[in-house]
Amino acid sequence: MISFKTDYLKGFVSDQDIKSMAGAVKQAHEDLQARKGKGAEFTGWLHWPSSISENFLKELQVLAAEVQKHSDCLVSIGIGGSYLGIRATLEFLGGTAKLPIYYAGHNISSDGLYELLETIKNKRLSVVVISKSGTTTEPAIAFRAVKKLLESKYSADELKKRIICVTDQKKGALRSMASKYGYRSFVIPDDVGGRFSVLTPVGLVPLALAGVDIHALVEGARKAEAEYAICDLEKNTCYRYAAIRNILYRKGKTIEVVSSFYPNVYYVAEWFKQLFGESEGKDGKGIFPASMMFSTDLHSMGQFMQEGERNIFETFIAIDKPRHDLPIPHDSDDLDGFNYVAGKSFDFVNKKAYEATAAAHFEGGVPNMTIGLCQADAFHLGHLFYFFEKAVAVSGYLRGINPFDQPGVEAYKKKMFALLGKK
Ligand code: PA5
Repeated sequence: MISFKTDYLKGFVSDQDIKSMAGAVKQAHEDLQARKGKGAEFTGWLHWPSSISENFLKELQVLAAEVQKHSDCLVSIGIGGSYLGIRATLEFLGGTAKLPIYYAGHNISSDGLYELLETIKNKRLSVVVISKSGTTTEPAIAFRAVKKLLESKYSADELKKRIICVTDQKKGALRSMASKYGYRSFVIPDDVGGRFSVLTPVGLVPLALAGVDIHALVEGARKAEAEYAICDLEKNTCYRYAAIRNILYRKGKTIEVVSSFYPNVYYVAEWFKQLFGESEGKDGKGIFPASMMFSTDLHSMGQFMQEGERNIFETFIAIDKPRHDLPIPHDSDDLDGFNYVAGKSFDFVNKKAYEATAAAHFEGGVPNMTIGLCQADAFHLGHLFYFFEKAVAVSGYLRGINPFDQPGVEAYKKKMFALLGKK
C-alpha cells in the first residue's frame, strides 16, 4: 500500500491544527459519501472501482488480444482528463507495454502532428479516440488527420476494427460518428468528470490495448476505495493529507510542489496538476499545483526551493523498490574521487539525495510530506490515483468550493471560436 510521512511538517502544522479539522473533515466525508455536497452529480468516481465488473475487464482483454494481433502501434487521441492518466500510467510502468502508444490531440502543433503521421504511416495502426464531450477542438481535428491516414490504408470494414471511440453514451460528435460508421465504442459515465476518469473506459480501454495489467490497476483503486472510506483523521491518510494541505494554505503556503526522485513519476505529477488545478483554482483562490523532478530540477529550481519566497509546501512521491537497481562501479584510478560510493547501488544514493533534499527544504522553510509507494507497479498506481481523487474532493469541500466543475476552461475556447469564425 502507500505510506505517508509527515516528520517535516514540524513547526508548520501541529497535531492540534490537524485535530481542529476533524469536524470539517467529517462534514466533508458525509457530504461526499451521501452525495449531498457541491457538484454531487459528478461524484460517480467515488464508488467506481468497486463497481467495475470482471466481465468488463475480460471484455477489454479479449479486445486487447485482437488489436495487438493486427496492429504495430496504437494512437491515443485526447486531451486533459482524456490523455494525462493514460500517459501517466504507461510512463510510470516503464517499458512494459505490449503495443507502443503514440499520443495526439493534446496540442495543435502542426510539426508534432506531421512527425507523428510520418512515423506511423507505414505501420499497422489502431486508434482510440477519447472525448467525453466529443466536441473538444484539439482531439477532434487531430482525429480528422489520423482518420484520413487510416482511410487511405484500410477499407470501411477494416476501420470498424481499428477505430475505437470512448465518449458519452448519447451526445457529441464522436458518438454520432461511432453510430454512423459502426466504430467500436465505450461509454464514459455521465457522473465522472474528465480529470476523475482514468479508471473508467477513458483509461482502461487504451491501457488494456497497450497491454497494461488493468486488473491490478483496478484492484489497487478498489483497495484504496475501501481504505479511504473510513472517517478517521488518524487512520485515513488521504483525509489527513487533505486536511494538512488546507492548514498549510491558511498559513500562506499557496503553492504545492509535487516532487519525485523517480522520473517515471513525471506524468503522474502532470495528471495531479490537472486534477488539483482544475478542481481547486476558483474564485481567485486555490493552491497552485506545480511539480519538480529531481535530481534534474535541483540543478535548475533548487535555489528557489531552498531560498526563494516561502509560500511553498512540497509533497514527495517516493518509490521504495525500483524495478531495477545497479551497483556503482569501482574505478581503479578514482580520478573523480567517487570510489567512496562504489559498490553502493544507484537507488541507495538516490534515496540519500531524497533524504538530504527533504531535510534541507524543511530547514529552508518548505514544509514537506512524503507519499511512499512500495513498488512502481499498476496496483500501487491505481491506489495512488484514487488517493489523490478522494483527497482533492475532500480538500475542495474543506474550502467550501465545488471541486467538480471547471467553468474557467471554457474562457479560451470562446475566444478561440470567435477568432476562428465558428458559427
Ligand atoms: O477535466 C475536464 O473535464 C477537462 O479538462 C477535460 O478532461 C478535457 O477538456 C477534455 O475534454 P473531453 O474529454 O470532453 O474532450
